[in-house]
Amino acid sequence: MSQHFQHDVLVIGSGAAGLSLALTLPSHLSIAVLSKGDLANGSTFWAQGGVAAVLDDADTVQSHVEDTLNAGGGLCNEDAVRFTVEHSREAIQWLIDQGVPFTRDDQPHVEDGGFEFHLTREGGHSHRRIIHAADATGAAIFKTLLAQAKLRPNIELLEQRVAVDLITERRLGLDGQRCLGAYVLNRASGEVDTYGARFTALASGGAAKVYLYTSNPDGACGDGIAMAWRSGCRVANLEFNQFHPTCLYHPQAKSFLVTEALRGEGAFLKLPNGERFMPRFDPRAELAPRDIVARAIDHEMKRLGVDCVYLDISHKPEAFIKTHFPTMYERCLEFGIDITRQPIPVVPAAHYTCGGVMVNEQGRTDVPGLYAIGETSFTGLHGANRMASNSLLECFVYARSAAADILHHLPTVPMPEALPTWDASQVTDSDEDVIIAHNWDELRRFMWDYVGIVRTNKRLQRAQHRVRLLLDEIDEFYSNYKVSRDLIELRNLAQVAELMINSAMERKESRGLHYTLDYPDMLPEALDTILVPPTYVG
Ligand code: FAD
Ligand code: SIN
Repeated sequence: MSQHFQHDVLVIGSGAAGLSLALTLPSHLSIAVLSKGDLANGSTFWAQGGVAAVLDDADTVQSHVEDTLNAGGGLCNEDAVRFTVEHSREAIQWLIDQGVPFTRDDQPHVEDGGFEFHLTREGGHSHRRIIHAADATGAAIFKTLLAQAKLRPNIELLEQRVAVDLITERRLGLDGQRCLGAYVLNRASGEVDTYGARFTALASGGAAKVYLYTSNPDGACGDGIAMAWRSGCRVANLEFNQFHPTCLYHPQAKSFLVTEALRGEGAFLKLPNGERFMPRFDPRAELAPRDIVARAIDHEMKRLGVDCVYLDISHKPEAFIKTHFPTMYERCLEFGIDITRQPIPVVPAAHYTCGGVMVNEQGRTDVPGLYAIGETSFTGLHGANRMASNSLLECFVYARSAAADILHHLPTVPMPEALPTWDASQVTDSDEDVIIAHNWDELRRFMWDYVGIVRTNKRLQRAQHRVRLLLDEIDEFYSNYKVSRDLIELRNLAQVAELMINSAMERKESRGLHYTLDYPDMLPEALDTILVPPTYVG
């Protein structure tokens, strides 16, 4: 039997954004935090490099802002950048207060202004400003925030709950547009439950799983973006998919990222013959922004017909490597690569969704009562290319801002009245799950081939044609069979893929992460690609 629940705030996602929102809201509110797998299921747990923030005296807000604008290819919203960077120090202080064990600096660098935590450097940053917990920052943050959330009786942490769709007044045929909660599949019972909430927040991560090769965990399917779109929210800049330049190239190493902090600490990118190639592409060499490095690697791999390039830090002292990159050292050793002596084989892979659900500074979407925070959202911070380690920062700053906004509006928003139960009377158990697996593979392969690092009109048209066929097939399947996690994810991935392709087709220029052979130049005016759903009411 499906069940009904009510909470003041429903948070869909248990990563950096979702947990920060739940912990920042006051403890008299009842809050449900959902994860579609186990609680550690999102990208946050896997983040390596760290969090960018203005922390030492030698650095300035202006410098962080300028670096972000430069990396963003002229497309960042300067107000959003300034807002994020200005709140960076207090966000980090909040994390320190929660108990995140950031790496301390026993010998503070003069250039760090004597700051007690070690700061590393990554591409696009003109200062050391990345605070980190060795090379496993995401795990340290996640574990700390989760431990804090478990101490709070008002926060219910619910695993294996997959949000299927948002409940809005419009969906129910009522007057108004407000979001009233969500329908959620309980994977244990197989039932779709009804969660009513005064406020709902999408903190459901990105969509890099739309590509065959990705650094992201399996759940990065763009569920939040697809749900928001279906509910009437505008989305923006979904053509900007960031490919991380360096993922471990090894048949058994599924999606293992090789942190950019290695390059920040002096690692070189090399061709199979040992030649360093990045200085030929950009004066910043290995520390150029990611779009430039990923494209250079792609270019060299295609030019030479090789399967990978190499990242070499073996010229640094062994003790330094083992202290700063213990996870990397151990993981590579499992595959027979000793990074203190050998270069690491690497390839680019899909990593980060720069676009998403359009929000304002408070994380509010177009649908009243619905917020989007973290990688699901589009705040304007990243422009055409996210600068390294700005995304975790965005999660914390906007989660805290959304919490303040929810608190402000709370007195005027009642708990939704009894909501209708999910109607499963017309569907049966699926008899051919192979269709789901097949469509997943097909989608991710053509997105990789046709909507990848280098695009053309023809490739995008092919992708558009195929995604439409898939969407029709998935729609039919969805109308006839009971929902499962795989089906929900496939439906959302295909929806987001279509939005990405449509966005890419609208951009008649090359800018940042969107590079097309048909329009290799950048247009003089930088404009966001905003897609408006049929259900949008402005
Ligand atoms: P996530 O952490 O991805 O969490 C998503 C949550 O939503 C999960 O709990 C998931 O279960 C839940 N969810 C999704 N869909 C549903 C649904 N339908 N129903 C219920 N729950 C759902 N950024 C940095 O700034 N610095 C770094 O060093 C860094 N390193 C990275 C390394 C790797 C390998 C990866 C993959 C990313 C890295 N990033 C880094 C990016 C950064 O980690 C992510 O952008 C950020 O963690 C996203 O946090 P989030 O809270 O928005 O989503
Ligand atoms: C990394 O550690 O290279 C990832 C940093 C990021 O994606 O911001």
